[in-house]
Amino acid sequence: MSTQLDVIPLAKPVIGEPEEQAVLEVLRSGHLSLGPRVPAFESAFAERVGARHASAVSSGTTGLHLALRAVGVEAGDEVVTSPFSFVATANAALYEGARPVFADIDPVTFCVDPAAAAAAITERTRALLPVHIFGYPADMAALERHGLPIVEDAAEALGARYADGGAVGGRGHPAIFGFYANKQMTTGEGGLIALGSAEQKERIDSERNQGRAPDMGWLDHDRLGFNYRLSDIACALGIAQLERLDDMLAARVRVAGWYRAALAGLASEHGLTLPCEDADGAVRGWFVFVVQLPVGVDRDATVLALRDHGVQSKPYLPAIHLMSFYRERFGHRRGELPVCERVADSSIALPFFPQMTEAQVERVADALAQVIAA
Ligand SMILES: Cc1ncc(COP(=O)(O)O)c(C=O)c1O
Repeated sequence: MSTQLDVIPLAKPVIGEPEEQAVLEVLRSGHLSLGPRVPAFESAFAERVGARHASAVSSGTTGLHLALRAVGVEAGDEVVTSPFSFVATANAALYEGARPVFADIDPVTFCVDPAAAAAAITERTRALLPVHIFGYPADMAALERHGLPIVEDAAEALGARYADGGAVGGRGHPAIFGFYANKQMTTGEGGLIALGSAEQKERIDSERNQGRAPDMGWLDHDRLGFNYRLSDIACALGIAQLERLDDMLAARVRVAGWYRAALAGLASEHGLTLPCEDADGAVRGWFVFVVQLPVGVDRDATVLALRDHGVQSKPYLPAIHLMSFYRERFGHRRGELPVCERVADSSIALPFFPQMTEAQVERVADALAQVIAA
């Protein structure tokens, strides 16, 4: 068994001198919130993804909530989304009293299947909420044909490109990014909505700040709001991370390439499924390295066995509709969304971060080969 020191973690942020300096400057300025770093971070990020506007918020989750409100989702509405996502995607609709309606996923990309989404649309559907899962862009052109408002969950997809070559986040629909510490870039906790509409930005900026209009006094509030602000400390961290984003993304691409090579034998001879290759012009923004175990290999036992080899891993992602809260609230049952369920049952996230070495990737691959063979 490996010693504690040998453990390969699942994820690890790249934090160094530039981030330390950026945060220190804010601390010394005394302007810790509602200061100049917020618009500076927003403009830099908007430029990066080719969006007209951006609103920084306290998390990807709060970004989803405000974006759904901004496109008009209200109590009693339906929001068509993917069951194969982090639970926050569906929860955001529930915050407004809307119902998340799950459409099954594409068996290759794991994003929502456009035909299943089309079949799930009713007269109560107010918005579509596709998820660019594991950084792979959903088929936006197919979803846009319905003419419904769209909110993109791009929390995992920084650096990705749509099939038409545009950067994810620059399509005009509100697109939500997340900056938790395992993401392509981090602000500790944080999120951002990239969007094309100035009106929607105005509403979002007010609602993230307690419903306060920009030209009003502190104590006047002309609508319901929240405290979903991102601090200047976090935004300074975000600006520093954006400056090295190209390097961090390139490192993720390199690590993914090592994984593909190291796991090729397990894939071709033992039925391990690797992340789908980029196709039809779409480009993945590498976030996690998730594989599907061969039929008959117990996923949860694999996680435990990998731990004994000093390799962290986790079941990723469980199907949202089968979580106990969703089952109890909506009566969902196994068998409703078979593609998602099959993929979710066999998926496991392996260690994946920019500083990972080729030797570490090989150690993970060796450990996985031993566990699968056992
Ligand atoms: C697909 C997806 N949506 C939403 C979120 C929520 O983001 P946050 O954790 O910043 O609230 C995450 C984060 O893990 C995510 O992966």
